[in-house]
Amino acid sequence: MKEKILEALYQKKGSYISGEELAEKFNVSRTAIWKQINLLKKSGHKIETANKKGYRIVANDEKLVAVELIQRLETKVIGQKMICLDTIDSTNNYAKKIAKEAEDGTVVISDEQVGGRGRLGRNWSSPKGEGIWMSIILKPDIPPTEGSKMTQIAAAAVCQAIRATTGLDVLIKWPNDIILNGKKVCGILIEMSGELNQVEYIIVGIGVNVNIKAFPEEILDKATSLYLEKKQSLQRKELILSILQEFEKLFENYTVGEGLASTIEVCRKYSAMIGKEIRLIQGNREESVLALDITEEGILKIKRENGEEDLILSGEVSIRGKNGYI
Ligand code: BTN
Repeated sequence: MKEKILEALYQKKGSYISGEELAEKFNVSRTAIWKQINLLKKSGHKIETANKKGYRIVANDEKLVAVELIQRLETKVIGQKMICLDTIDSTNNYAKKIAKEAEDGTVVISDEQVGGRGRLGRNWSSPKGEGIWMSIILKPDIPPTEGSKMTQIAAAAVCQAIRATTGLDVLIKWPNDIILNGKKVCGILIEMSGELNQVEYIIVGIGVNVNIKAFPEEILDKATSLYLEKKQSLQRKELILSILQEFEKLFENYTVGEGLASTIEVCRKYSAMIGKEIRLIQGNREESVLALDITEEGILKIKRENGEEDLILSGEVSIRGKNGYI
């Protein structure tokens, strides 16, 4: 019932709704409504109470609230079911736990992650209230071999969303990083479950460093946040909505048979690598190659020092710039 009351308050968009109206709507007593309102306040929602007028929601830029986000979200599927948590080990872990029962397009967001995970078994620092830590559950009718394409779709979506909402010139570092002034501002972690020929579900984990004010010494030269580059705090809500909307557009294009064309167009246009000399790192092996292109399938095309051209699947490869992170 708490969620239903919250929804009714948000529907009023900041105007008052009386305790009596709420009580009638949900067929409970006014005292029951009052108790639920107190619980909502305790969990961080700003609700004003006025004599004779009732209750109204007070805008709160910081708190991520599923009913509010859904009301503002212009999508058909992605994010139409949403879970906003205060804290969790990892939204990807949570998404995996609920994936079987969850509806296609369900989004899990947490204000903080205490066990955030990155690619290649790395940790992902996810401080409270300072980033977007979210996972999208997808149940597409595709074979697992198509799974890595979700990375390109997510990267293109995040890149466009950050550009549109902040004006910052972010670029895509194939396959799964978003870069700002040579440092990483967002990472993407795709996880999958399925059988040989059919995906059961895909989890698209997206981590954006939005308002992080400082990074630990060891990653200072590699990591940045939108705040540090823009020199002002940014609203997470706008960016979340934009990412989900962009993702749905590109994902829909992919599923209706266009393939990755519109995604790859974005990945090429905003590539941080095409035409550059990069270092390809695979286990202990490291070599200097030229990044030539990203193919229609989302694969990186490179030229080795001996002139041979090759295709690199995202897999276990790390990529660095010639003299730094990129
Ligand atoms: C990387 O660049 O290595 C990928 C980082 C992915 C981080 C996101 S934050 C939301 C989701 N939950 C996680 O534990 N990881 C992803």
